[in-house]
Amino acid sequence: MTTHPDDWNRLYQDEGRPGWDMDGATPLVAELLDLALPRGLKAGGEIVVPGCGYGHDAAELEARGFAVTGLDFAPLAIQGARQRYGDRVAWSLADWFTTHLGPWHAIFDHTCFVAMDPARRPAYVDACAAHLNPNGLWLAVLFHDVKGRPGPPHAIAMEDMRRLAEARFEVLHLAEAASSHPRRAGREFLLVARRRSE
Ligand SMILES: C[S@@+](CC[C@H](N)C(=O)[O-])C[C@H]1O[C@@H](n2cnc3c(N)ncnc32)[C@H](O)[C@@H]1O
Repeated sequence: MTTHPDDWNRLYQDEGRPGWDMDGATPLVAELLDLALPRGLKAGGEIVVPGCGYGHDAAELEARGFAVTGLDFAPLAIQGARQRYGDRVAWSLADWFTTHLGPWHAIFDHTCFVAMDPARRPAYVDACAAHLNPNGLWLAVLFHDVKGRPGPPHAIAMEDMRRLAEARFEVLHLAEAASSHPRRAGREFLLVARRRSE
């Protein structure tokens, strides 16, 4: 079980570049932005990347003009992100479930939701809603196939994701990803969801 920051920190310590790290941003940054901008994503707005790891996606979003917070609860992840990308991004050592930072216009979620123990998913959805402005957007890259391996990452079927998200969000887009990294092709899907105003 990997729910404690020490567990994740140990993976960074033992592996240096852990298996999930792609040494660059996912190609799905561009695809998700293209989907989200016509659906109300504010160009240049404030985006948070929870579970940012070494910060590749956060730095890519900053290069595309957004004001970005890269958040992770593993100290070695934040240290590695800062070493790679300096202070262009506001790095934050914090737990996504309890942080008092924000709210943000949008969340860019790549391998954070799927890293969670499935029992924590409803609480994770609540945290996403709590950290967004009214009408804020949750953009996520998710796995429907992890090749039968025990997680993390944990796979989720698209319709199960829809049901979970709909507790707090209006689902605007939910479909197979088109431009995944070759290592992940055919196994990822994308979500764009708007926080419900309650
Ligand atoms: C599988 S890694 C993905 C890292 C990065 N998104 C990437 O794609 O390279 C998951 C990351 O989420 C972080 N994480 C897990 N649970 C977290 C939580 N509750 N709050 C903040 N970060 C968390 C871990 O420390 C780890 O860096």
